[in-house]
Amino acid sequence: MKKDINFILNGEELTATVDIRSSLLELLRDDFALIGTKEGCSVGECGACTVIIDGKLVDTCIYLAVWADGKDITTIEGLLNEDGSLTDVQENYVEVGAVQCGFCTPGLVMASTQLLKDNPNPSKAEIRRGLSGNMCRCTGYKKIIDAVEKTAKERNTK
Ligand code: FES
Ligand code: FES
Repeated sequence: MKKDINFILNGEELTATVDIRSSLLELLRDDFALIGTKEGCSVGECGACTVIIDGKLVDTCIYLAVWADGKDITTIEGLLNEDGSLTDVQENYVEVGAVQCGFCTPGLVMASTQLLKDNPNPSKAEIRRGLSGNMCRCTGYKKIIDAVEKTAKERNTK
């Protein structure tokens, strides 16, 4: 069975006809070619598929596409600055070496972005908690936390 849904995706008002059993992850990757959102575990554990919906982090592998009706969705592709440059969070991930294989990175960047929006001056413990839904097999997390701390510090000294 199919259903029409209307939503905002990376600032653009869109309509899609979706299978009621499809996940939002399938809609983003297969119908809109937004392949920055990754599929890792497929069961809501790893955070590779994280996007921001109405200011909240969502694991799109366990979120039905029909639930996106009326929602405002931001994926990693929608994060760039207006001039197309990387955001400060993204820049700092690169700068401190928080990216290795990169598979977890889009999800972690989404989580870091929302974390800093909700809490502009997080402690290390708050950063760990804020990113606890996102797994990384490569970096050992230290540099990821460094990237978030660096971003917060830079923003707070502007
Ligand atoms: S792929 Fe969605 S949480 Fe792992
Ligand atoms: S950089 Fe490889 S999983 Fe995180």
